[in-house]
Amino acid sequence: MKTVRLGTRMGLLLSVAGLLGSTAAAFASDVNIYSYRQEFLLRPILEKFTSETGVKVNVVYAKKGMLQRLEKEGENTLADVVITADIARLKALSDANLLGAVDSAVLKSNIPVQYRDSENRWFGLTLRSRIIAYAKDRVKPGEIKRYEDLADPKWKGRICVRSGSHIYNRALVASMIAAHGEAKAETWAKGVVANFARKPQGNDRAQAKAVYQGVCDIAIMNTYYFAKMALNEKKPEQQKWAAALTLMYPNQDDRGAHINISGAAVVRYAKHRADAIRLVEFMSGNIAQELYASKNYEFPVKKGVTRSDLVKSWGEFKADALGLSEIARLSPAAQKVVDRAGWK
Ligand SMILES: [Fe+2]
Repeated sequence: MKTVRLGTRMGLLLSVAGLLGSTAAAFASDVNIYSYRQEFLLRPILEKFTSETGVKVNVVYAKKGMLQRLEKEGENTLADVVITADIARLKALSDANLLGAVDSAVLKSNIPVQYRDSENRWFGLTLRSRIIAYAKDRVKPGEIKRYEDLADPKWKGRICVRSGSHIYNRALVASMIAAHGEAKAETWAKGVVANFARKPQGNDRAQAKAVYQGVCDIAIMNTYYFAKMALNEKKPEQQKWAAALTLMYPNQDDRGAHINISGAAVVRYAKHRADAIRLVEFMSGNIAQELYASKNYEFPVKKGVTRSDLVKSWGEFKADALGLSEIARLSPAAQKVVDRAGWK
């Protein structure tokens, strides 16, 4: 597998685009991926795919700039497949007409309908819930049950969460709009902001650290981060952050906990379309789904694939059945709510 690492800035992106030109021969017959997902996670899955099919895979890893790059490359792009870690970016690629529809019985069978595009342009591959985690010693079980509770003035000065503009929070706000309408979602967001212990900063894990340090008592985070902290042998201090927290799935007595996806799509101008489809199908199948579960502690999108032991130990939960298309559709409105609420 060939790996090209992109910088996070467009300047670096452009220089690597030049480098890609010089390695065009390596890209001639293989499947080429532009990925926002990290190498440690993708590599074992792609190695399995190559060993099963004989099809080689090259990956360009990036943190941003994928849409701009695909637009710039147009029909000449070498990319066959794109992989992202959230719905909003897949939808943006789809809206920019950069994705090709794929009519695949395998994908339809492996991926429940709410986790794929009705027009078959993008496909969810893993699920994660955005959950509430609270300080074991400072919040009692049952004191907080719903996302809505986060706006209760009783939590004034006690909540830590990253910026509202981050794709994960924007998707959560979109789910609030879907449940309550834009005006009520805004009232809620303002209530949450009024309860902040500090200005939003850092990533999801930084919020867990802040609870551990006593800066705040409640954090919002994606499920797999909780697992990655709890099992982190390279950075054992993170085990303490997780140990200070109780994880809870919100809204279990009503619509269920908010769900986002990571996913993939076949590029509109893919030069290796048949193998690209084979790859996305493979990623929705048992082998890849088990790797996603065991390496990144995500929920497999495919029914019947086992979760990791730790994730299983959190028990079953009710997931919000809201379709990811709907979350993507409401994402611009969610950003406006976030802006008006001053969640930054
Ligand atoms: Fe993440």
